Amino acid sequence: MARIIGGIGTTHVPSIGKAIAEKKYQDPYWKPFFSGFDYVHGWLAREKPDVAVVFYNDHGLNFFLDKLPTFAVGAAGEYRNEDEGWGIPVSRSVAGDPDFSWHIINTLVADEFDITMCQDMLVDHAVTIPLGLMWPGESWPVKIVPIEVNTVQHPLPSLKRCLALGRAVGRAIEAYPRDLKVMVIGTGGLSHQLDGERAGFVNKEFDQLCMDKLIGEPDELARYSVHKFIELAGAQGIEFLNWMAMRGALTGRVAQVHRNYHIPISNTAAATVVLENKPLAGLKAA
Ligand SMILES: [Fe+2]
Repeated sequence: MARIIGGIGTTHVPSIGKAIAEKKYQDPYWKPFFSGFDYVHGWLAREKPDVAVVFYNDHGLNFFLDKLPTFAVGAAGEYRNEDEGWGIPVSRSVAGDPDFSWHIINTLVADEFDITMCQDMLVDHAVTIPLGLMWPGESWPVKIVPIEVNTVQHPLPSLKRCLALGRAVGRAIEAYPRDLKVMVIGTGGLSHQLDGERAGFVNKEFDQLCMDKLIGEPDELARYSVHKFIELAGAQGIEFLNWMAMRGALTGRVAQVHRNYHIPISNTAAATVVLENKPLAGLKAA
């Protein structure tokens, strides 16, 4: 059976893609951020996941404001990137796992999540930058199931709904009969706002609260309305919805094993968190 080994939350700011291309790992501006991935590289080398389920928001590459699903699941054998207009290099493609995707899609719809299913899907920097941060080498050793969450065009799904989506995805993963080691990724955030009177807004105290509560009290975070969350985290800080879905998919006993927080990258509070997921049954027996 498939097993959920843990989750990673990470920022996906476009300028990170340019810094990766220019190998600015030791640059004084970038080092505090990139060094937060040293632990991640060791964790991934030890755990060796087969598949990553990636909760992210599209920024106009595959979906635009005219047609924007609240939740969409990829079911392609390959996911391409294209020029997004951020001045970052076009990424290599990412391998998919259509059989696993269709299992998740079927299970979600049976679980009353009326998602959009995509057999052809471009993935943008919200997917490719996290993969480039986690596996900085020449190839990416995982297949992905991308799950898009609308954090762009209001009305947005609630934190509670995204947590529930993640939980449904977690149940789907654990019901998959193939022996797979599955990791879950949530990208975006943390606090930031790109436009308007509060452009440049970050909220370190609230970011810390979110990362703390995410570990063992995600339902408390789910009480925030979308608008209250935006007031506290900025208009684009609501990308945290992807982190909520990631956390929901961790079905066992969850422990944080790594956290890095750094202000700013571009005008964003950058964070990287690794959460391990241990089976409840195994803990009871221990
Ligand atoms: Fe974003």
